[in-house]
Amino acid sequence: MPGRIAIDGPAGAGKSTVGEHLARRLGYLYCDTGAMYRAVAWLALHRGMDLNNGAALGELAEKADIVISKPQIADGRQYTVTVHGRDITWDIRTSQVGRAVSTVAGHPEVRRVLIQQQRAIASKGQIVMVGRDIGSIVLPDAELKLYLTASLHERARRRYAEMVERMGEHNPALPSFEEVMQDVEKRDQDDQANMRPAPDAIIVDTDHLNIEQVLDTICQYVEEKV
Ligand code: DC
Repeated sequence: MPGRIAIDGPAGAGKSTVGEHLARRLGYLYCDTGAMYRAVAWLALHRGMDLNNGAALGELAEKADIVISKPQIADGRQYTVTVHGRDITWDIRTSQVGRAVSTVAGHPEVRRVLIQQQRAIASKGQIVMVGRDIGSIVLPDAELKLYLTASLHERARRRYAEMVERMGEHNPALPSFEEVMQDVEKRDQDDQANMRPAPDAIIVDTDHLNIEQVLDTICQYVEEKV
């Protein structure tokens, strides 16, 4: 079986759900590299740092003790993220971090440090790693490279459904579908510069597939690599 599976794609294409399920099915490690960029962004905001200072943020990333581990708490988390021992699993999901992270991730000094850490994590064993540049930059010799995608409308539809589920249909704080779609579109624009699809990745269009169907499709590719 392939030892390293790289999954890249835009926000909301289902990378993390698919990545986690796939890792569980195969008994592989799972690593969501977006969480590492988010942890650095959270720490930078927490310390009131200038988000445009790439050199300082690179140094911050280098010195930060970011640990992503198996979840010990059953509150819907996929994994636990700590920085210097503090649990920031949910803090990195706030819209404030969401707005800051693409700027932080855009600095080559930050990327250099995190890419090095990601390669070290991947060297520990069989792994499913998800992000934006895994198949092209982090693990260019991964045995299986996938690019998960879905239309803007479908990704917004999924995000909206998730929010309705979490917040309730009649919650006055629930944004409109159009607002969610604008948000997803904005994230695509912000992430554009960090997106590095591998030219040899298999493109999986998840528009008309549910999670089980996506997993079955990917498992076929995994078996082909045996
Ligand atoms: O997947 P996500 O939304 O949690 O990613 C958070 C941010 O990090 C997003 O702006 C894209 C960026 N990112 C990146 O530049 N490279 C990666 N390998 C993973 C994420």
